[in-house]
Amino acid sequence: MNGRLPRPGSFGSAPLLPLEAEGAGRWACGASAVHTYLLRSPAARPAGEDGPGQLRSDIQIAMATGRKLMRAIRVFEFGGPEVLKLQSDVAVPIPKENQVLIRVHACGVNPVETYIRSGTYSRKPTLPYTPGTDVAGVIEAVGEGVTAFQKGDRVFTSSTISGGYAEYAVASDDTVFSLPDQLDFKQGAAIGIPYFTAYRALFHRAHAKPGESVLVHGASGGVGLAACQIARAYGLKVLGTAGTEEGRSIVSGNGAHEVFNHRETNYIDKIKASVGEKGVNVIIEMLSNVNLSNDLSLLSYGGRVIVVGSRGPVEINPRDTMVKESSIIGTALFSSTKEDIRGSAAALQAGMETGWLKPVVGPQYPLEKAAQAHESIIHSNGASGKMILLL
Ligand SMILES: NC(=O)c1ccc[n+]([C@@H]2O[C@H](COP(=O)([O-])OP(=O)(O)OC[C@H]3O[C@@H](n4cnc5c(N)ncnc54)[C@H](OP(=O)(O)O)[C@@H]3O)[C@@H](O)[C@H]2O)c1
Repeated sequence: MNGRLPRPGSFGSAPLLPLEAEGAGRWACGASAVHTYLLRSPAARPAGEDGPGQLRSDIQIAMATGRKLMRAIRVFEFGGPEVLKLQSDVAVPIPKENQVLIRVHACGVNPVETYIRSGTYSRKPTLPYTPGTDVAGVIEAVGEGVTAFQKGDRVFTSSTISGGYAEYAVASDDTVFSLPDQLDFKQGAAIGIPYFTAYRALFHRAHAKPGESVLVHGASGGVGLAACQIARAYGLKVLGTAGTEEGRSIVSGNGAHEVFNHRETNYIDKIKASVGEKGVNVIIEMLSNVNLSNDLSLLSYGGRVIVVGSRGPVEINPRDTMVKESSIIGTALFSSTKEDIRGSAAALQAGMETGWLKPVVGPQYPLEKAAQAHESIIHSNGASGKMILLL
């Protein structure tokens, strides 16, 4: 419900009531208190907007508060990529206690954002919402209690509160990290989900050790390239797969000792020939519904396959885990504790300082092409780094 300003005091036949500002009493404009109005008509309200029975226009909010408006993608209903609507009259969010407001320069596009948008994912945001998690930009303002950041700092996030497909985003200060000068904003937008997921998969879930081998099954995308760089930096032998020549060349330039083509019919035999009888210690799996059965045949004694991505069911023979006492382990970045995130962030920050963490930016889209970005991340001809939106 953006851009429609009801006449104060009336809206059709429904009564209008004053709105209390978010946690801070009435909004004020200059010296005078200004009443903004709520429409108590659930039928006229897009599902979930501002809680039960409330509807308000961002233009109203902006007029009443002097708040700036911004461009942002809004989703009013779950569905295909076409439900990603570019709006130019969305109120810039205000950072609350322990939150920061970031002027977004780039935002990562992740497959999970397409699952959430379609309404088929286990976690559903309240409608309407703005997608996007991994932003990079500059601190515009800080809320009460924020001591680690100040206006003008270059940062990236591992999460946002208000959504990253927008010119401004609010994030909790414990999900915001300094972006060193040697990385640009595009690279900053490629760190959040990919590197934190790859680090979690390798160390929190697989407990990978230096000297072990890892197969990054699907290494040419955001998470895969991050996993290759991290595993190489920590002393693992790294094998990667990609579906295109360009993808394989990028994987080989980002930490993999050996690269295989997962579109070739006999590539599993080639991996077996390379790792020999002992097998591979860890597999970071991006497409488990296709590869899990083969993965079990590739693992070493005590080997671990980490399910990072899966887009459907798969049949396996559990017997394949018995003699080798191997494990199939799931992972979800969303299940990380604050302590997990702090630990990963410290390791990744060291990678930025010493130079092994170098995000590879792939396809880039302007904000208004967000729907096209969603279409192409799922129906990609071949990944070549992290997809991002530019603002
Ligand atoms: N569990 C979590 O917390 C978590 C977090 C982040 C992401 N994910 C999931 O992890 C997956 C990868 O994410 P992403 O951001 O890296 O996506 P992405 O950038 O789109 O990359 C997709 C990767 O999958 C590869 N792939 C395609 N066909 C494959 C096959 N048959 N076997 C193995 N790999 C294949 C692609 O290789 P080519 O294009 O070269 O063929 C590419 O490397 C997605 O399913 C995503 O939803 C999970």
